[in-house]
Amino acid sequence: MQNSQTKIFFDKLQSNIEIKELIKLTLTGKREKSSDLKKLIITAVELKKGYCLNFIYRHNTKDITKNFEIFEGIQFIEKALEEEFLNAEMFSKNENLNLFILPNGKVKLKSTKPVLEAPLTYLHNKVKERLIHPHENIYLRELGITNVNWEIRREMSDKFKQINQYIELLAPNLKELTVTDNLHIVDMGSGKGYLTFALYDYLSNYLKINIQMTGVEYREELVKTCNTIAEMADFGSLNFVQGTIEKTDLDKIDILIALHACDTATDEAIYRGITSGAELIVCAPCCHKQIRKAMNVSNELINVTRFGILKERQAEIITDTIRAMILEAYGYKTNVFEFISLEHTPKNVMIVGKKTTTKVPNKIEIFNKISAIKQLYGIEKHYLETLLEL
Ligand SMILES: C[S@@+](CC[C@H](N)C(=O)[O-])C[C@H]1O[C@@H](n2cnc3c(N)ncnc32)[C@H](O)[C@@H]1O
Repeated sequence: MQNSQTKIFFDKLQSNIEIKELIKLTLTGKREKSSDLKKLIITAVELKKGYCLNFIYRHNTKDITKNFEIFEGIQFIEKALEEEFLNAEMFSKNENLNLFILPNGKVKLKSTKPVLEAPLTYLHNKVKERLIHPHENIYLRELGITNVNWEIRREMSDKFKQINQYIELLAPNLKELTVTDNLHIVDMGSGKGYLTFALYDYLSNYLKINIQMTGVEYREELVKTCNTIAEMADFGSLNFVQGTIEKTDLDKIDILIALHACDTATDEAIYRGITSGAELIVCAPCCHKQIRKAMNVSNELINVTRFGILKERQAEIITDTIRAMILEAYGYKTNVFEFISLEHTPKNVMIVGKKTTTKVPNKIEIFNKISAIKQLYGIEKHYLETLLEL
């Protein structure tokens, strides 16, 4: 029953949930007079497993409560509105939105002033949690994440979440930077620029750091679009260049980012970060083909690499472990953690290396450990070693 009015309603619902401004949603006006279910009351709640929707099913003589994950919960609301109820009322911080399904099947939407206040804790959390703001943020609109009313489009809510999570993960590292003026940040394989724009926005507008940012991308049409959006957003120090990670001419690199750069492109990026002495190297690798092909197991591990998918996972682990160890050998304090849950994207590992001067690494010991891993899996060379001429 999705028409333009219901679409507006559900887009607003999604957006209110995202920006944590949904106070309550009620479904009333049962379609079936004999139905025992009188009303459905939905609120957003923060649980251990994350942000969820709490449903209270109000029957004649009892209430039943259930929690659903956001996506699933919204689907239930849509279904309930199709099958059980005729009215929906959404209470948010800024408005009350009523949706009525009329007897002729047409849908009417009415917006009125807000009547409920958000719980204090809700408002209190909000400032901390949102580092990227959708309102009047031009690049988010131009990238199709928000609509003309600056609301997060339902189909882009995962992307918006990913962007925010990315910034939240990087924020503590960025706050520890020793160089804080005229930072040059390079985003290798910037693609459509979602994360590039968000990082620029955060550093430049939120942390108010004086930065220069370059997105390197070999697809010309993406470079063109991103430069147009940067101009529209008035992001004057953000520039996208057409070129390869390997060869693009860059002055200095203080922060090197490479997110989802395929296969050995991640190694090229790390190589450029290390050789430029970047203070921070951040990458989220994807498709680990080089090591998968290089694996030649002839010992007890042969069974562990017998099944394609399991071999692939081991190739990922070995590739990224060696990358992390090489970073350590070059004086980077390195962390590997989950970038975004598998639910949103399978590309879920992030490697962050922070250059440290306080501890001199024992290179020989690290390279011996790397050799032992390679020997076990019959690997001759990791591509990053080739680049570094190790
Ligand atoms: C999967 S996309 C990721 C885009 C973005 N970093 C993100 O995470 O949303 C990878 C991008 O890297 C670009 N790319 C891959 N290898 C490259 C290389 N060697 N030089 C320049 N760009 C490259 C591709 O064209 C593509 O746009």
